[in-house]
Amino acid sequence: MPIAYKEVKNSKYVYFTYWDAEQKKKREIYCGSANDPSALEKAQALESELLQKQIANLQSQLKKFDIGIAKRPYKRKSKSVKSSMQDNIEMQEDLKNAKIYDPEVYYKTSEHMDEVEDDSVQLVVTSPPYNVGKGYIAYDDKKELHVYLDFLNGVWSECKKKLCKGGRIAVNIADTWRTPYIPLHCYITKQLNDLGFLMRGIVYWDKGASVGVSTAWGSWRSASNPTLRDVGEYILFFSKDSYKLEAENRISTITARQFTTYTKSLWAFKTAQRPENKEHPTPFPDELPKRLILLYTFLGGTVLDPFLGSGTTCKVAKALGRKGVGYEIDLSYKPEIEAKINTVKSIGLSLDAFTANHMKSVNQVLPTIPIVLRSNMSDSS
Ligand SMILES: C[S@@+](CC[C@H](N)C(=O)[O-])C[C@H]1O[C@@H](n2cnc3c(N)ncnc32)[C@H](O)[C@@H]1O
Repeated sequence: MPIAYKEVKNSKYVYFTYWDAEQKKKREIYCGSANDPSALEKAQALESELLQKQIANLQSQLKKFDIGIAKRPYKRKSKSVKSSMQDNIEMQEDLKNAKIYDPEVYYKTSEHMDEVEDDSVQLVVTSPPYNVGKGYIAYDDKKELHVYLDFLNGVWSECKKKLCKGGRIAVNIADTWRTPYIPLHCYITKQLNDLGFLMRGIVYWDKGASVGVSTAWGSWRSASNPTLRDVGEYILFFSKDSYKLEAENRISTITARQFTTYTKSLWAFKTAQRPENKEHPTPFPDELPKRLILLYTFLGGTVLDPFLGSGTTCKVAKALGRKGVGYEIDLSYKPEIEAKINTVKSIGLSLDAFTANHMKSVNQVLPTIPIVLRSNMSDSS
């Protein structure tokens, strides 16, 4: 919200807040006491001034774009230098054509996924149980290591059957510790390699301050036995049979800014906030499947999660215009899964919040701009 009210020591004040694109930070301008009507007027004037500047900026970008088109045909290469604003304008147009698909959820083991057609899935996104004794209701999360790994191997092999040629699997996993340290990401990497998947890479997900970092230092400030404290998890990336994904519908819905961020091997975002009264102990944040789905699937593609948990992957797939399919062995998570999926009423998550709000206000003033840009793009590409 550009105009915000803040309460300090029982008095309310008005602020105008905005995103400073040059400095890349949020700014707040104090406008006065909430009891003073001129404070709100001042905030509104600042808002209108900022909007005018943004419109002028957008118009000059569009002008440049039109001149470019007239002089030389549009080249795909120029996509990387387009502003994220232009990117998002096009994206909005693509998303207007997007359909919303209700995910299919099966409450049974994913060791056999007969309900899913073979060779039909563009992406498997999943986070299996970590075998650390978490309090899942039906699943025993403390198995003998070899029993656990055999079980996972069976699920990966079933996933491979369901993936199309060039389809990808992304497995989110943490190593478990301490004595002995169990490098699960190494075991699973070996399993997927042995199953014939083609390895694409590994992302380290830095959970930063959102993870309660352990204070089990080992020997404090002594070389005797200091302990490494994990602050992140891994995401392992593999492809089936080919690195390249072929599909009939080849509409991608990722912006230039998202693409440059998501293709880096270090990701940093918070863990999921567990809402009160929710049963599931280990949901991952929306951001994780969002990045994978935008990077690795086309609009309308199928996304499968064989360990659905609280339903995050299906929720995000629905919000991004993809077909979500999930398997969860524990029927008691059904209300939580359904509630999560039902929070999505329209296609949405692919625009970052600031740009989406910004575009909303710009579109109110200049409703024809997206159409002008889009028709230029499709004429010349
Ligand atoms: C780490 S959690 C997944 C969390 C999920 N990513 C989310 O955001 O909520 C793993 C889930 O796998 C489920 N599970 C365990 N064995 C399974 C099986 N054989 N088939 C399907 N689901 C299983 C567990 O009940 C648990 O909910």
